[in-house]
Amino acid sequence: MKIVTVIGARPQIIKAAALSRAISNSFSNTIEEVIVHTGQHYDTNMSQVFIEELGIPEPKYNLNIGSSSHGVQTAGMIEGIEKILLDEKPDYLVLYGDTNSTLAGAVAAAKIHIPIAHIEAGLRSFNKSMPEEINRIMCDHASTLLFSPTQTGFQNLLKEGFNPDNKPPFTPDNPGIFHCGDVMYDNSLYFKSLAAKNSRVLENNGLKGKEFVLATIHRDSNTDVPERLTSIFESLLEIAETDAIEIVLPLHPRTAKLMKSNLLGDVYGRVKNSNLLKVIPPVSFLDMIMLESNCKLVMTDSGGVQKEAFFFKKPAIILRSETEWKEIVEAGCGVIANADKQKILSAWYSFIKTYNTLIYPDIFGDGKAAEFICRTMLNEL
Ligand code: UD1
Ligand code: UDP
Repeated sequence: MKIVTVIGARPQIIKAAALSRAISNSFSNTIEEVIVHTGQHYDTNMSQVFIEELGIPEPKYNLNIGSSSHGVQTAGMIEGIEKILLDEKPDYLVLYGDTNSTLAGAVAAAKIHIPIAHIEAGLRSFNKSMPEEINRIMCDHASTLLFSPTQTGFQNLLKEGFNPDNKPPFTPDNPGIFHCGDVMYDNSLYFKSLAAKNSRVLENNGLKGKEFVLATIHRDSNTDVPERLTSIFESLLEIAETDAIEIVLPLHPRTAKLMKSNLLGDVYGRVKNSNLLKVIPPVSFLDMIMLESNCKLVMTDSGGVQKEAFFFKKPAIILRSETEWKEIVEAGCGVIANADKQKILSAWYSFIKTYNTLIYPDIFGDGKAAEFICRTMLNEL
């Protein structure tokens, strides 16, 4: 079986490591994987660092699409991916998540009748102002095999009319849906000990043995709205200053570029001069695992980071108005605080009291989601 895998944005590159590892460990005689990088993310610390560190095969193709408006970026990718699919003639196109690279792959493959396997199917925020919500719905409805990481995702597919009783052969009109666990849980389990051995991020940032908070901010709904971005940064400053705790913020380039113009009043200056708010460049995945597994708490608008906080048993303050990973909130391990300073502060004060009593149920599978996906693709061919 031959698959073409599309990667492009940071979280997809990391997710792809799980499948590539499963192929190399257990399916090297039966699955050939060709990797296409759209070039949506291109800075070394947003892309190449993961390919090298996580043992992903070098992409055979890089479309070098770079940054642009949604339409220009997605259109360029569709054109490039279509050419590659026509040449490579894979049995499946494998797509991850909900980025513009995912949508482009879905449009390109569906029109020329190449079956799509969508990993992270069924997730919904029920907020169509998010570009990701549009991307994931469209990808799911063009897919032949849909792999949902959570029970909630699987139920969302049922509500949209996907039939769990469909029988092979699967097609876009008769798709197969599966609840199989999360490839990122596979990755977190696998890379945790490697991170402890290889990462020096705690030492390099003076965090070893200290209490600290980890924060990430990159969602367009936060970075592009000055009032929201300001409210989030004011909250971080207030927590850091009131409780004398360091907050480490590996900053996405989108946020780095917009911080100066979109932080209102004196907040940009206060962030720049703060000894407690440590803004650092994006870190590698092994470094991120060390930060996540050693911090006191996570504050984030990232999908991946709120989940990894849960994997490493850390509470998360979710800086969005909703989450696709609602199990985390239902378990009491995450709070949706949006960009609302009062909610963020109240979540912080509540978590520092309940920190040791939280229970993190097993809801993301058994760490073998990637093997399940490979096996299913082979069986259903
Ligand atoms: C994209 C995804 C989002 C995902 C995020 C993961 C879409 C619509 N959004 O958002 O779902 O959560 O990736 O990180 O696909 N930039 C750089 N260097 C880079 C990459 C980006 O400087 O290597 C800057 C550029 O100014 C660019 C901006 O970041 O315009 C946004 O990049 P883009 O890929 O368009 O969207 P993200 O916000 O990264
Ligand atoms: N990540 C990383 N370095 C960083 C920030 C995030 O390796 O500096 C990883 C993080 O551990 C997670 C993924 O990137 O696996 C999440 O990506 P991001 O927050 O960019 O996107 P999202 O998950 O929100 O789509």
